[in-house]
Amino acid sequence: MSKEKVQIFDTTLRDGEQVPGCKLDTQQKLVIASRLDQLGVDVIEAGFPISSPGDFKSVSEIAQIVKNATVCGLTRAVEKDIEVAAEAIRNARRPRIHTGIGTSDSHIKYKFNSNREKVLERAVAAVKYAKRFVEDVEFYAEDAGRTDNEYLARVCEAVIKAGATVLNIPDTTGYCLPEEYGAKMKYLRENVRGIDKAILSCHCHNDLGLATANSIAGVINGARQIECTINGIGERAGNTSLEEVVMILRQHPYLNLDTDIDSTLLFDTSQMVSQKMGMPVQPNKAIVGSNAFAHSSGIHQDGVIKKRETYEIINPEDVGVTESSIVLTARSGRAALAYRAKKVGYELTKVQLDEVYKEFLKFADRKKEIVDEDIHQIVESSSIEIEN
Ligand code: KIV
Ligand code: ZN
Repeated sequence: MSKEKVQIFDTTLRDGEQVPGCKLDTQQKLVIASRLDQLGVDVIEAGFPISSPGDFKSVSEIAQIVKNATVCGLTRAVEKDIEVAAEAIRNARRPRIHTGIGTSDSHIKYKFNSNREKVLERAVAAVKYAKRFVEDVEFYAEDAGRTDNEYLARVCEAVIKAGATVLNIPDTTGYCLPEEYGAKMKYLRENVRGIDKAILSCHCHNDLGLATANSIAGVINGARQIECTINGIGERAGNTSLEEVVMILRQHPYLNLDTDIDSTLLFDTSQMVSQKMGMPVQPNKAIVGSNAFAHSSGIHQDGVIKKRETYEIINPEDVGVTESSIVLTARSGRAALAYRAKKVGYELTKVQLDEVYKEFLKFADRKKEIVDEDIHQIVESSSIEIEN
């Protein structure tokens, strides 16, 4: 049975770039955009063109070089924003305007000093205005995570009528639980007239560490686009991580959902974004962290050496990592030592291994991690005769 496609909307260059201290210049953005295109993302949110002349320039240049993906520019529900975004994406093969407004009571009251009816009118007017420039208009209901479902459904219905092709339901503050976010998507699917004319999109923030879980709950409940960033970078605790959602769908085939992402480029893309943004990837980051395929405890190492699948659910090559690593520490056992010794040229017999292991433990208690040069030293200083 062929799988249903979930579109990947990458916002590394817009929401991701909002990370404090992470400024990219146009040249760096162009390199990242063409890598995202190669990776197979469906949409690249290139920036917020009205925000600065530099952002406008980056969005227009990205629009010209991207070959396959839709190129999208963000706007507020403001005519001038929409005009500037339309101009910036004019040369894109597939242009999209992403416009919207806050719909939670807190946004309506404190940000806009307005009321629900007026906000609904502004939403409709923004979509209609954006439709004058492009066919593909995505609407975001900012803070949808904390928006009353009945009102949210009314807004969605009205903007679909006005021509919105995608409905973005952001959990802007990362507040929702997966069950709640999934239920919101289900509610919209069941209660918005005309919903079949639009794609529901998940846009989740990670304030409670739930961005990925919420996005998956969203697609299980009918959303068909996920908005995410490389390495999960973004405002505050970040956005949904692209590599995580892609691999979750791939590792759970019974969900019958997949993306067009070439997963073998994930590790390299993660490194590229990390370097250009000057933002290190945490070592224990799922999929792309330096420890994601590293094993250091004796029991795990023994299992992985016997059969990789005992402690790995993903083949590292599938995400562009050459091989799993067996890290030698004082917690490692003989199997790991024999494995690593063999890699650097020592084929140890059982008796020899026992001897070398004693020496290894003394060394490992003094040093955090044993590297290849240490192995030579350990073997040499043990009392065995080795032919290598
Ligand atoms: O988190 C959010 O609500 C956003 C919107 C502007 C799409 O980033
Ligand atoms: Zn966001």
